[in-house]
Parts: sequence; structure tokens; C-alpha cells
Amino acid sequence: MKKLFIQSYGCAMNFSDSEIVASILSKEGYIITNTIEESDLILINTCSIREKAEETIRHRLRNINIIKKNKPSLIIGILGCMAERLKDKLLKEEKIVDIVAGPDSYRDLPKLICKVLEKNEKSVNTILSLEETYDNIEPVRLNSNGITAFISIMRGCDNMCSFCVVPFTRGRERSRDPLSIVKEAKNLYSKGYREITLLGQNVDSYKWSKETNNKKKLEKSTEIKDVIVFSDLLEMVANINSDLRIRFSTSHPKDITNDVLKVIKNHENVCNYIHLPAQSGNSRILKKMNRTYDRNWYLDKINNIKKIVGNECGISSDFITGFCSETEEEHHDTLSLMDNVIYDYSYMYYYSERPGTLAQRKYEDDISLEIKKRRLSEIIKKQNKHSLNRNKLTIDKTYKVLVDGISKKSSDYNKGKTSENKLIVFPKKQNIMGTYVDVRVKDCNSATLFGEIC
Ligand code: SAM
Ligand code: SF4
Ligand code: F3S
Repeated sequence: MKKLFIQSYGCAMNFSDSEIVASILSKEGYIITNTIEESDLILINTCSIREKAEETIRHRLRNINIIKKNKPSLIIGILGCMAERLKDKLLKEEKIVDIVAGPDSYRDLPKLICKVLEKNEKSVNTILSLEETYDNIEPVRLNSNGITAFISIMRGCDNMCSFCVVPFTRGRERSRDPLSIVKEAKNLYSKGYREITLLGQNVDSYKWSKETNNKKKLEKSTEIKDVIVFSDLLEMVANINSDLRIRFSTSHPKDITNDVLKVIKNHENVCNYIHLPAQSGNSRILKKMNRTYDRNWYLDKINNIKKIVGNECGISSDFITGFCSETEEEHHDTLSLMDNVIYDYSYMYYYSERPGTLAQRKYEDDISLEIKKRRLSEIIKKQNKHSLNRNKLTIDKTYKVLVDGISKKSSDYNKGKTSENKLIVFPKKQNIMGTYVDVRVKDCNSATLFGEIC
């Protein structure tokens, strides 16, 4: 038996893709190992989003080199966004790499591995596809808790935000057959999973039509509407079983529709939580980022969420500080946007210039690292304060919590999530894993709620 060690970096899409890779290679006789030293094949699924992400992977390769020295037959493959961005240059730059495979070439992995094994030649496939969605591949759930799982519903991104490398590493947007998504979700439910997250770089632009899909898919799907948009898909998945929680990520502010908000409102099992990355609170910077909305448009969307879903809806964001030419005043617009919305939490970064992006070609990366970092620390400080304030509002309230594990800090406590995506810990009880319990919040900090089962 050949053993595969697979490690993922970056976003949830990458972790989900690794499960597809594991499925493809398990059919070729590979078994998954968590012990890198005993593996015959190491695959690293990589991220290019910021310079630091790529540095981390290059550092990891240095460590793997030590293992390879003791085991020269070991095959090393680079998958994902860094593979796509650097292509065969990676083979020259990182001598220990044998295989470079971009995100749309995973079906080709058995052949790529064969080339290395039988011909002793390095192999590369970084061809992007307009159609590949891996819709007929049942992922092998890696490091699964048996309760929560990702389902990839679309691939690629057509948005071309000027700072972002993803459209180059993931290619054009394409949506997966809705019936294959429903089938996968039903399968997971029957195996005991109770929460799925529908994944895509831009889930709200999900669109599948009978017309643009091939005959085989058309026949399979005669009983569904001619065109399925994200709100339809969300409803189809929500209707599988009211005990199956549904989340989705990521939404682009320009695309999220009131229909989606109404599905959240009308289905108790569609979680009251939306990740709506703003990136900046200043309209000039947003234009330069090519986000296609301005501050007021974004704030209108937030108001819609609060009006339709309710004030309790969990809302989070992504922010970038120090984007090209950002002034102090424009940075303050981001701080004031945060004061206006009061997010439950945010993912925050300082701008990292990426080769080939519109921003790299057109604008000067002219904000010093020192200023970028100072601005970042200011938004982090504000977010921490807001997270704490939002969490304090939950004290003495009772939430329906899906129990998904044991607290990292103490084995005497269970952990789970509220519909609003808040992490909550509470004293452990037997046989509640994967079930819903009502938990009353007693205390909190900015990251965690502390409660007791009612
Ligand atoms: N598709 C999602 C969206 O539209 O918001 C998220 C995509 S990206 C994987 C996650 C986040 O990384 C982005 O929202 C952005 O805040 C951040 N990011 C992307 N490119 C970046 C860059 N060049 N420097 C710093 N942060 C970046
Ligand atoms: Fe990148 Fe923008 Fe696409 Fe998100 S929507 S992946 S930030 S280009
Ligand atoms: Fe990174 Fe690629 Fe995701 S660049 S964030 S792994 S789509």
C-alpha cells in the first residue's frame, strides 16, 4: 500500500479540494497517513494570497527536504494556487518538487505521479478549465469530526479585485450541478453530519442553467428549474432536513440578493450569519480595488441584512490596510465603517502586492510596511472591542448550539457554534456530540461565549 500525506494551506476551498484529491488518489490505491515520515507521496496544497503565505510554504519545503534526504524515493507534489501561479518555475526554484498541479488538474494526478515513478521525470499540469467542478467525485473527508463538512458549489472568480491573485490562480467562475450538491449534502446527512458549509469564492454569483450544461446533466435534472441561482440552491439544500444546518462562504457585497436574505429568514436551519467582506470603508479606495460598490452601497446591504434577517444576524468582514495610496483619512473611513456596522469579527490583513494583479501593474505599493502594520493594529484593536461588545449582548440569552467537539482549552468542556457562528463552550455532557442543545450564555470574552446547557 502506498501512503499519501496531504497538507493544506489557505482558504476553505483548498481544504475542500484536498478532500477531492484524497478521493482521486484513494481510488489509485493510496491510503492517507497523518505521519509524514511514513509517506511515499507528499502533496502540499498551497496558497498565494499574500507573500507571507508563499513564504510559509517555501519554509515547509525546507523541512520536507530533511525527510526526503533520508528517503530519496519520496515524491513531492505542489498543488493549488502557488502551483498555478508559478507553474514550472516552481520546479526550478524548489529542486525537491517532482509534481506541480494547478487546481483544475487533479483528475490528472494519477498520470502525473506515474510519469515521476515510471519515467523518473518531473511533471506539470497547470491548465485551467472552464468546466471542471469535480461534481461526480465524492470527497474523502480528511480530519473530519463527522459533524461539519464543506461542500464546494462553484470554482473560480470573475471579479478581478485589483489586489487579488485568485482570478489568476483559480480561473473563470463555474457552478456545479445543483443535483450533485444536493446528493452530496443528503449523503453527509445520512452519515450523521449536521452542518454543511457551501463554498465558493463568490457563492452569490452561483448560477447553473440547463441550457449551458450538457445533455447528460439535462436529463438528470428535468425536475428542477431551468436556471438555478444561489437562493434556489440554498433553499434546495435547506429542504433536505431541518436538522441539517447550512452555512455559506464567501458573499460578495455586490451579489448578495434579498432572495438569499429571505431564505435565511425563512429557514431556521440556514444559519443567521453572513461573511460580507468590505475590504475598505472608503469609496475612492474601493474603486481602486475594483470592488464595484462604494461605502454607501455596502452600508445599504448591511441595513438590508439587519432589516430582513434581523439585528442578531452574525456579520463578519475582511479588511485590507495600506492599499496603494491610502491616506490617513481614508484609513479612518474604514474605522468609521466598522463603528457603523459593528461586526461580530473580521479577518484583517495589511496589503501585500501580488505579481500580475491589476494593482501591481497599475499602482505603486507606496504605503510603508510600518504604516500598513500600524493601521492594521488600529483596526484589530477596534474589532476586538466590537467583538466583545457584540458577545456581551448574548449574556443571559439561550442559543441552539450544534455540539461539534471538545473545547481546545479543557477536556471537561464541550464546544459548539450558535447559528450566528459564535463559538461557545460549556461543561461536558455524555452523548451529545452531533446533537443540538440549548445553552444559556453566562459570560464571554471577545472570541468565545461561556455557557451552561439548560
Ligand atoms: N472572495 C472573497 C471576497 O471577495 O472577499 C475572499 C477572497 S480572499 C481568499 C480572502 C481575503 O484575503 C480577501 O477578502 C482580502 O481581504 C484578502 N486579500 C486578498 N488579496 C490580498 C492581498 N493582496 N493583500 C492582503 N490581503 C489580501
Ligand atoms: Fe479575490 Fe475579489 Fe474574487 Fe474575492 S471576489 S476572490 S477578493 S478577486
Ligand atoms: Fe489562497 Fe488560493 Fe484560497 S490563493 S486563499 S488558497 S483560493
